[in-house]
Amino acid sequence: MTAPALTLPPVALYIHIPWCLKKCPYCDFNSHANDRTLPEAAYIEKLIADLEQDLPYLQGRKFTSIFIGGGTPSLFSPAGIEKLLTAVENLAGFASDIEITLEANPGTFELEKFSAFRSAGINRLSIGIQSFQQSFLEKLGRAHSDKEALTAAENALSAGFENFNLDLMFGLPGQSIEEALKDLEMAIACNPPHLSWYQLTIEPNTLFYSKPPSLPNDDLVSGIQEAGIDLLSSHGLDRYEVSAFCGPDQESRHNLNYWLFGDYLGIGAGAHGKITLPEENLILRTQKVRQPDNYLQQENPVAEVAKVQTSELPLEFMMNVLRLSKGCDQVLFGERTGLALQSIEPVLASLRDKNLLRNDRLQATSKGFLFLDTVLTEFTKFMPGDNHTLERIEVNSR
Ligand SMILES: C[S@@+](CC[C@H](N)C(=O)[O-])C[C@H]1O[C@@H](n2cnc3c(N)ncnc32)[C@H](O)[C@@H]1O
Ligand code: SF4
Repeated sequence: MTAPALTLPPVALYIHIPWCLKKCPYCDFNSHANDRTLPEAAYIEKLIADLEQDLPYLQGRKFTSIFIGGGTPSLFSPAGIEKLLTAVENLAGFASDIEITLEANPGTFELEKFSAFRSAGINRLSIGIQSFQQSFLEKLGRAHSDKEALTAAENALSAGFENFNLDLMFGLPGQSIEEALKDLEMAIACNPPHLSWYQLTIEPNTLFYSKPPSLPNDDLVSGIQEAGIDLLSSHGLDRYEVSAFCGPDQESRHNLNYWLFGDYLGIGAGAHGKITLPEENLILRTQKVRQPDNYLQQENPVAEVAKVQTSELPLEFMMNVLRLSKGCDQVLFGERTGLALQSIEPVLASLRDKNLLRNDRLQATSKGFLFLDTVLTEFTKFMPGDNHTLERIEVNSR
């Protein structure tokens, strides 16, 4: 008798809250400006019912992390968040060292709300600063001021959040290297254990897409990135993922689970999930109904459940783990995909020959990290239409 070698990875929970004060012109997330009273109580009930329906996917596991993202989840009341977390804990259980993050925007709350979120069970905040400079906040159409950005970071600390993240963006309209570094210096002064630093991208279906602002050219953006990485590292914030920086042992547990191809349930409007079913040798992708009103009204919140095809697994796995500057152990590939590493060996060997991948780990070299898109393109070779075949691992069970 044979059994698959796919193993059950840790499982996280993503909870999507889809409303914001206003829609930012660069944002293509499932977030909607809201000018009425938020249907908070109904939405929380729906989230709980959504989770109940997904419970069989847990297969006995407890959540190792929860991320409440959006949208602007800090628009919800601490009492609502507490009710939600209590229900999640009762239904699924929490690992003893669970990380529970809430995304918060400056200006949508006060110190009291921060402290109350802490009491409600949130133990990590992710604050959407984007820039500390008023002129750039205005160019980005943000609903908060530079003062509110600073106060938010200070409030996180005084409310007892030792663990918090600041989200910043660079490559902003008309930004110079000095202006980008000024944002980082102001962030560093807040002593964040974790910082996410994203290059602004222009996404379809956004206002910036139809009326593009003038962005710094590629050379300037590279200059900003190089100088920024050096500045952050000189202050003990090391780049452990393409856009994520942290002090020692301060990685985001929730994001690490994504990047190590762990499992997650996704509840809320448009939320995605990834589930491993070792017994059936299957990996599933799930998606919930995207439009918030439809999500609230439809009895079944599930929009789609799809099998990840064997041919897609190498790219899906590598797209995640190679974002990590330390990559992962080779053994993880078989455990998380159920495929033999041997079946992708020709691609690995050719990348190693070009000094893009290390010999001993699934880890990009410094050159490979610079050309990550080129490295990842190699793993599309296993997609349908190519001659490569992939071998599923089968192990004998006794
Ligand atoms: C889910 S979003 C929004 C979180 C929060 N509502 C806010 O506005 O700060 C998470 C992060 O993605 C980043 N982001 C959103 N749109 C982006 C874009 N077009 N280019 C680069 N980063 C973007 C921002 O840094 C943002 O904080
Ligand atoms: S960037 Fe944040 S606040 Fe702005 S629309 Fe997107 S989710 Fe909402």
